[in-house]
Amino acid sequence: MLTTLQLVLAAAPQAAAATAPATDASHAAESGGSSLVIMAYLVAGVLFILSLAGLSKQETASRGTWYGIIGMLLALAAAILSPDVARYGILAAAMVPAAIIGGVLAARVQMTEMPQLVALLHSFVGAAAVLVGFASYLDPHGAGKTAAELIVHDIEVYIGICVGAITFTGSIIACLKLHGTMSGKPLMLPARHLLNLVALIVTVLLGVWFVDAAVDVQAATSVIDATGIILLIAATVLTGILGIHMVMAIGGADMPVVVSMLNSYSGWAAAAAGFMLGNDLLIITGALVGSSGAILSYIMCRGMNRSFVSVILGGFGAAEGTVASGDGEQGEVIEISAEDTVGHMQTARSVVIVPGYGMAVAQAQHALADLTAKLRAAGVTVRFAIHPVAGRLPGHMNVLLAEAGIPYDIVQEMDEINDDLPDTDVVLVIGANDIVNPGAENDPNSPIAGMPVLQVWNSGTVVVMKRGMATGYAGVGNPLFFHENTRMLFGDAKKSVDGMLGAI
Ligand code: TAP
Repeated sequence: MLTTLQLVLAAAPQAAAATAPATDASHAAESGGSSLVIMAYLVAGVLFILSLAGLSKQETASRGTWYGIIGMLLALAAAILSPDVARYGILAAAMVPAAIIGGVLAARVQMTEMPQLVALLHSFVGAAAVLVGFASYLDPHGAGKTAAELIVHDIEVYIGICVGAITFTGSIIACLKLHGTMSGKPLMLPARHLLNLVALIVTVLLGVWFVDAAVDVQAATSVIDATGIILLIAATVLTGILGIHMVMAIGGADMPVVVSMLNSYSGWAAAAAGFMLGNDLLIITGALVGSSGAILSYIMCRGMNRSFVSVILGGFGAAEGTVASGDGEQGEVIEISAEDTVGHMQTARSVVIVPGYGMAVAQAQHALADLTAKLRAAGVTVRFAIHPVAGRLPGHMNVLLAEAGIPYDIVQEMDEINDDLPDTDVVLVIGANDIVNPGAENDPNSPIAGMPVLQVWNSGTVVVMKRGMATGYAGVGNPLFFHENTRMLFGDAKKSVDGMLGAI
């Protein structure tokens, strides 16, 4: 939606050229219209802030979504109906097919494919910022401006285009990696940090040259110059390659942080576009997206015990779904049936369920909600333990559990529940792997060493539900499967839970 808004707002000044010469009456109407638009933008900005506040808690998330939807509709309506816009044919030709394509794609996308869709949407925001930057530069804007104003404008154009290009190409690569079209393995070019540094320095130097050259020409003639355009194209290509290289170097378990970081970049790109167009709402929205993306990246880094810089520098993680070999084999695996698992749970006082990515793949949440209701009716205390990076999206598990109608008050965060696990009789791990890996705590050589995990092995019995012995996202073996109090319930998670329901 932000992308659509950007494109609509970006189209407004160009569309203005087609308006008829204004009379006094039309002037008055126009200024009244502008005030209304500013008011509508202000209300929309407040609604976006309320939306973010609502989304921070499960109980208020639905209300938060509605605030966001209403705010976005209001902003779109205000932008479309603003006195600046006259070419409705062009606007409709761009918006209607885009809305249809977006609607169809959003309706079709599986929950498990959401991260790559989000990455793709970020790429649109990046592309929009680049296009707005070029449009803003090509639109003659030097007349009547002081040299200082021109410098500020050209800096806005340059930063907007560079951040937009990194966001665009980086998000496309993130999308392809998350979709599996590209390998999740990090690309480790020799001297890659040096290459990035050189690209960054050259980008800054090109920027200084661009602002210098562009200001001279604009101040003198009020038009754009060829040197400025060539420098802008060079910077777009360079930062585009930088975006590709930076994300190619990041692999496996760090991809969620990258998507959130690109989310943040897309916000700053939108804010830069807002400055170029003098549009307050775009500045507010961009700043909200930019800062919330940065905070989310920080929270995720903490959840994985990684520093933000080490994530950006890349080189961590491997392709998921491989079977760990060598040092991964640490003894025998003890299997259990669905019937015996139910038997354990029915005689337990307290059960904790740990959902992971596999639950999302199997779509087992509804069957799990039925199982939970039956166990609770039988007097068993059932709670859910949520790891901050369980699944493939921030809040992925919370969304699925809420969708299945599992009460919020039995869903707890890792920090709240870890200390209770030694007093828990049975832990049911459903399609989770990395987030319950003891190697993160006691194997300093593990690629996920230091990542906080749910200490399920401290409970009485752990039942791990998965299809085989494959690794999870980080591509590392899990010693939990070989613990003496661990039982493996092999099979698709949904089928296994159905089996348990049948046996209860
Ligand atoms: P993972 O470590 O990825 O493990 C998921 C497990 O589910 C796999 O080992 C797989 O084993 C099993 N599985 C897959 N399909 C299944 C099915 N139909 N039925 C039963 N089991 C199935 O997941 P996790 O424990 O949730 O950890 C999340 C990982 O993803 C972390 O490394 C995290 O850093 C990363 N990550 C997180 C996010 C966010 S923000 N949440 C985003 C991207 C990546 P089998 O193939 O043997 O069945």
